[in-house]
Amino acid sequence: MTALEGLLTARIRANGPVTVADYMAECLLHPQHGYYATRDPFGVAGDFTTAPEISQMFGELIGLCLAQSWLDQGTPPRILLAELGPGRGTLMADVLRATARVPGFHNAAAVHLVEASATLRQVQARNVPQAEWHDSINDLPEGPLYLIANEFFDALPIRQFVRDGDGWRERAVGLQDDRLAFGLTTASPLRTLDHRLADTRDGDLVELCPALPPIMGEIGRRIASHGGAALIVDYGDWRSLGDTLQAVADHAPTDPLVHPGAADLTAHVDFAAIAQAAAPALHTRLTPQGVFLERLGIVGRAGTLARNLAGPALESHLAAHRRLTHPAEMGNLFKVMGLYAAGSAILPGLDA
Ligand SMILES: C[S@@+](CC[C@H](N)C(=O)[O-])C[C@H]1O[C@@H](n2cnc3c(N)ncnc32)[C@H](O)[C@@H]1O
Repeated sequence: MTALEGLLTARIRANGPVTVADYMAECLLHPQHGYYATRDPFGVAGDFTTAPEISQMFGELIGLCLAQSWLDQGTPPRILLAELGPGRGTLMADVLRATARVPGFHNAAAVHLVEASATLRQVQARNVPQAEWHDSINDLPEGPLYLIANEFFDALPIRQFVRDGDGWRERAVGLQDDRLAFGLTTASPLRTLDHRLADTRDGDLVELCPALPPIMGEIGRRIASHGGAALIVDYGDWRSLGDTLQAVADHAPTDPLVHPGAADLTAHVDFAAIAQAAAPALHTRLTPQGVFLERLGIVGRAGTLARNLAGPALESHLAAHRRLTHPAEMGNLFKVMGLYAAGSAILPGLDA
């Protein structure tokens, strides 16, 4: 039994079952025993690999996309270049290297990272020493905001509800024979899920991410009032339906209720909820990651990098290119949502 399992079991015994969101929050961010609080989970030695850890091309193209948006918006002299949930800081480091040649961009940009894990902040400080760290998007100074979030929203806790007539039963984590087990509350109507009555049937499971609307509302407010743009990259689709909670440890799927705190927990991102929370302040465009990277020129960039490689290094570079863009790998499952103020130019790479 993990230390966190002991704490959760005692809490449930004393106060009753917890929501899936409470369970996820404890597993990921408990200050002593949470997954992100206790480790650097990225890469071959960790539990999973994200796009910026697969290839530098990902961050380079994202950087050039944001820099083009800055140029299109008239090169505002002071901007925030911000990232939510920067992991190791690899994406921001690649963004900064690629944009170093855009005249004036680095003089204008102050780097801000929003990160909950003290352990990962230390890793980020090695890769992006010039950054300033924050606990929340609300703590950033005001100004034009150019923001990236890759695999951030999938780590935010979700609540799950099963439809029962016109009401909903919430999925909760309780105890069965002293082990963690899923159960359902009794049905009740829920105004926040009224919009899902039209596209669901009895027994369907839908997910809500309570932390998402305030974060996206704040991003929308800032970009609408000061200018800027946001690129949100994650796996998911326009509308989420069904149980997408998943646990990964050591690059393999595992049961979300086994080893709490020792496995990564994620859920698919509902991009409609992102768009809805940012609207009407912002235009939003959703594009598959593979198409987005190809439009930004990943094929040419991959060719340039390949010229200096041979043998296993070349093979791994070709595999990384394929992994980021091929529809059977990350190309279709991952989506890029671009957000920008009405009246600003659309960001390059997005579906018009
Ligand atoms: C799956 S990782 C993605 C890392 C990175 N963006 C990448 O692509 O490699 C999720 C990141 O979000 C951070 N995180 C999770 N929940 C957070 C929260 N509520 N506030 C701030 N950061 C959070 C984690 O510590 C981690 O850095």
